[in-house]
Amino acid sequence: MVDKPIGHTPVLPREVCELLAVQSSDTVVDATVGLGGHARLFAENLDRRGTLICLDVDPANLERARANLAGRSCRIEFIHANFAELPKALGSIGLDRVDVLLADLGVSSTQLDDGARGFSFMHDGPLDMRMDPRLMVTAADMVNRMKERDLADVLFYNAQEMRSRRISKLICNERRNSRITTTGRLAEIVARAQGINPSSHKAKIHPATRTFMALRMAVNEEIPNLERLLQDAPAVLKPAGRFGVIAFHSVEDKVVKLDFRKRKSEIVYNVLTKKPVTADDEERRANPRSRSAKLRVARRLPTE
Ligand SMILES: C[S@@+](CC[C@H](N)C(=O)[O-])C[C@H]1O[C@@H](n2cnc3c(N)ncnc32)[C@H](O)[C@@H]1O
Repeated sequence: MVDKPIGHTPVLPREVCELLAVQSSDTVVDATVGLGGHARLFAENLDRRGTLICLDVDPANLERARANLAGRSCRIEFIHANFAELPKALGSIGLDRVDVLLADLGVSSTQLDDGARGFSFMHDGPLDMRMDPRLMVTAADMVNRMKERDLADVLFYNAQEMRSRRISKLICNERRNSRITTTGRLAEIVARAQGINPSSHKAKIHPATRTFMALRMAVNEEIPNLERLLQDAPAVLKPAGRFGVIAFHSVEDKVVKLDFRKRKSEIVYNVLTKKPVTADDEERRANPRSRSAKLRVARRLPTE
């Protein structure tokens, strides 16, 4: 499935390491291991007493991380699991509490760049968008089956697509002619609904950007999964355990911000980031993905 290790530049590496402060004997969970960029940094700080647990919903990425993390001295466990089921995943390897937990949300470049996964309007392919192949509903199922109003709501609430009603209307008209099954056809319909030519200089971002993001979030249940992780985190963290979340758009960052604020008022967390930490100019130049990254970190307070 995976030929050779692929490198990955993790976002906000220095800030993640400083704020999560991994100690050599810690138990650390990378809840979204991806290609293992952050996990590699954690592994560098762990010795034989330490444990690194790597979760991902995408088995192909899990295998890439396994290849990229080979030969480390700490114990490393790879689990094909959704972070929405973190307590169950930890239980499967006989653990219940951890010192450090990181979730770097969203998609990885391997998913976006593979046309066959159907995440991107940049590559024509089947309209799929499932990060976890065990999921039953694809993006094609959504655009062909949802009621016009519900589809518009998905576009508006997940990605603040201001033209959600117009786009949904044209999708529903077009699917009466024939089922929409490819990323290319969906991108063309979405651009047409807005009267925007994607190749014109006036289109600062591709007119289908928000629609694709909203559908990806819906297919993968990204906000409900994040809410479950946030709900479970206090019980999973040891006292003084550190919990970091990197969000890439305002909807998910707001969910994290409100949860941390609530837990702070309940004296469950000390929030270590008054404002979200963002990339400096140098990182923004070197790694475009870092431009929209927002890191928030909380420390678990003892319950007594
Ligand atoms: C942005 S990438 C992570 C990159 C990683 N931090 C690195 O440095 O290589 C996000 C990864 O999280 C995975 N993912 C997304 N949602 C998930 C979830 N609910 N549970 C587990 N993994 C998830 C994706 O499959 C993807 O591989």
